[in-house]
Amino acid sequence: MTARTVRDYIRTIHDFPHEGILFRDVTTLFADARGFRMAVDQILHDHTGQRIDKVVGLEARGFILGGAVAHQLSTGFVPIRKKGKLPGAVISEAYTLEYGEAVMEIHDDALKPGDKVLIVDDLLATGGTAEASVKLCRRLGAEVVGCAFVIDLPELGGRKRLERTGIPVTALCEFDGA
Ligand code: PRP
Ligand code: MG
Repeated sequence: MTARTVRDYIRTIHDFPHEGILFRDVTTLFADARGFRMAVDQILHDHTGQRIDKVVGLEARGFILGGAVAHQLSTGFVPIRKKGKLPGAVISEAYTLEYGEAVMEIHDDALKPGDKVLIVDDLLATGGTAEASVKLCRRLGAEVVGCAFVIDLPELGGRKRLERTGIPVTALCEFDGA
């Protein structure tokens, strides 16, 4: 029997949130002590030796992973949230969804010029969320040293889109048939 990988802990739910969608559910990965540790450790391994001043987690599942990664690195954690959720002064970036537009926000004092940040989220699909987040970090003068995901859906092109911004992208596994 071969050892379970991170990918093996991810559950697929059919027809969520819409008919025809295969939803890759990381709650089963996070709920398993070995699976969760494996995912966090692999993200850390991919960034060994890199200077990271802050981990930036993307709402909502990026908070769970990013918090654990920041704790292990002994760095601070900074949330990027959907519009209207952060209490202080924010800067915003809009991005396009399949239908319509969404907005991500960061506190305008959350990063300092020159901060080296690692962006963490559960899943890379079209890359719209992550690209907007890269822009927010850069507008505050920070340097994004990488974007780390658990899952990449390569058919949706997010990796190529992000790599065009010059950011190294890592993902722990891929799924087709997004
Ligand atoms: C999902 C996922 C990523 C994003 C990826 O989040 O968790 O954050 O979509 O999609 P993209 O690469 O096409 O931008 P979602 O917006 O569903 O919100 P949630 O994490 O708050 O549930
Ligand atoms: Mg998300």
